[in-house]
This record gives sequence, C-alpha cells and structure tokens, in this order.
Amino acid sequence: MENVIELKHPLIQHKISKLRDKHTGTNEFRKLVEEIAMLMGFEALSDLPLEDIEVETPIETCKTPVIAGKTLAVVPILRAGLGMVNGILALVPSAKVGHIGLYRDEETHEPHEYYCKLPDPINERLIVVTDPMLATGGSAIAALDFIKQHGGKHIKLMSIIAAPEGVKRVHEAHPDVQIYIGHVDRELNKDAYICPGLGDAGDRIFGTK
Ligand code: PRP
Ligand code: URA
Repeated sequence: MENVIELKHPLIQHKISKLRDKHTGTNEFRKLVEEIAMLMGFEALSDLPLEDIEVETPIETCKTPVIAGKTLAVVPILRAGLGMVNGILALVPSAKVGHIGLYRDEETHEPHEYYCKLPDPINERLIVVTDPMLATGGSAIAALDFIKQHGGKHIKLMSIIAAPEGVKRVHEAHPDVQIYIGHVDRELNKDAYICPGLGDAGDRIFGTK
C-alpha cells in the first residue's frame, strides 16, 4: 500500500518487544514509548523542508541549511498519543502541539470526541498525528477528518503497533496521509484489541486500569 510505511529498524523492533512484555512497568513503558516515537520521527521527518542561512564559523562565513519556517505541529490522540509527543519534540523543539481527545466505546468500539484544540492556522504546517495503537482505525480516521475540516493538508500518522484491518481502513479513508508504523501485528480479537499487541496503551502509559 502506497503511503503505508512499516519501519523495520532493529532498535525500533527491539524496543517494541520490551513494550509488549506484560512485566514492563509504567516507568519503563513510558520511556520506551518516547524513545520509539523519537526513532520513528527520525524516519518520518526525513523530508522536512530546509532553507539556507548564513553562519559564521571560526574559519569563514558559509551558507548552511536549517529546518525551514513554521513547519511542524504534533497532534496526539488522547490519551495514549501523549506518550509519543516528547519523543518528537526532542527532534523539533519548536513544534506546536495540538490535542484531539477521543475514547473508544467499549461495546461498539466507535470513537467519541471529548476535546479538540489545534494550532491556528494549521494549513501551512506539516502535522504529525501520534497514537501508539491503530486497532480498528476508527480513532485515527476521526482525528484525520477533524484535522482536515480545520484546514490541515500535509498530514502524517505515527502508530507504534497496528492491526492490518485498521491500516487498510485508515488508508482507504485517507489515502493522502502517510502512515508510519513500528509493527503490523496479526489481527484484532473480538474486543477489538490488537493481537499480540501490548494491551491497553493508555492504561500502561498512565498506570490506570
Ligand atoms: C486507544 C488507543 C487509540 C484507540 C485505537 O485509545 O490509544 O486511540 O484506542 O483504537 P481504534 O483504532 O479501534 O480506534 P482508547 O480509546 O482506549 O483511549 P485512551 O488512549 O484514553 O486509553
Ligand atoms: N487500544 C489499545 O490501547 N490497545 C489495543 O490493542 C487496541 C486499542
């Protein structure tokens, strides 16, 4: 599928295996999510635009590239997407941060919106939507719909673990969005949890149940 990129980097795969382990506690889990987000961001942001500035080195003046203009907005899908934000901000500290609050209904698995706030204007920025889990794809589709309704044009989605059926659904709904995934797992179970997955990402990041 064009625009669906599964990242095979050994460091990402190693850290995902640690995330999956049910014995990994909240502290380490949080740290791993942030580190994986940074590694994924390194790949996903490889096409950030550059512009030349003039810099005086101790030897001479030269033209040298920096990231161009007001480029990036990070938009986590609450709650679990929050865990990935600092990993991206470590790479691009000047990025603005929006928030999209969605929770999945336990019975229907449909997303429900409870909070949305985006940097304004958003249309000129590259927008990186973060959510560690892409299961049915309903939450990602709702977030991408919302961002586009508010003028977002150049959007990337980063998910650490995804189910194949969810990836297909998001790609069909938003074929223009580049989807970066750490690992595509086997399938969803009857409760729409990813198998083998890592359980409930929000609960594991925030230590709730
Ligand atoms: C989880 C996860 C995604 C969503 C994925 O959030 O963080 O946002 O489910 O499922 P989907 O692809 O089927 O929509 P949840 O609704 O559990 O909320 P939380 O992050 O606040 O725990
Ligand atoms: N949300 C999660 O946190 N985990 C899953 O497996 C599916 C949705």
